[in-house]
Amino acid sequence: LLRHPHAADRLRTRPDLMPAAVEELLRYDAPVHLMLRRARHDLELAGRAIAPGQTVLLVCGAANRDPAAFPDPHVLDLERSGTRHIAFGHGPHFCLGAALARLEGEVALGALLTRFPDLRLDGPEPQWQRSLNFRGLTRLDVRFTPAGG
Ligand code: HEM
Repeated sequence: LLRHPHAADRLRTRPDLMPAAVEELLRYDAPVHLMLRRARHDLELAGRAIAPGQTVLLVCGAANRDPAAFPDPHVLDLERSGTRHIAFGHGPHFCLGAALARLEGEVALGALLTRFPDLRLDGPEPQWQRSLNFRGLTRLDVRFTPAGG
């Protein structure tokens, strides 16, 4: 969000957009990028035959940027409506904590944006942990005016 300061400012003036914004941020930069499934029976997936017992790696991070599912998928659009991303998975193993994670996202982002109106990136590029699956920051340098200061 800090890489899109206009979007952050828009969210400051339109807090009612927060639920849609959290969904769009989950789609745009999903914290979990991979899921594994084992086929229970013969199936065909994108023209490939999958045999029972074979493991399939699902790249949900890519699915969340699928141009067939999302117009302009590489654009962060906090007002995108009906975002059917799969950042929390899909089906019987759909994330048990999705409702809590959504609520936490709304509360935390809302508090950050209102308490630090000039919060912005500063210093070297943000650094990410080296993981194929999980998107997490190891370093994020920011600058802001302390509240009341
Ligand atoms: C932004 C935060 C989160 C993301 C992106 C996320 C993502 C996911 C994904 C993608 C799965 C499905 C894995 C699969 O199908 O192979 C999953 C499952 C799960 N998540 Fe989360 N999760 C988040 C937060 C949480 C929280 C806060 C909790 C608990 C309080 C939680 C508990 C679980 C559990 C228990 C499962 C396994 C469900 C099952 O296998 O039936 N998650 N999560």
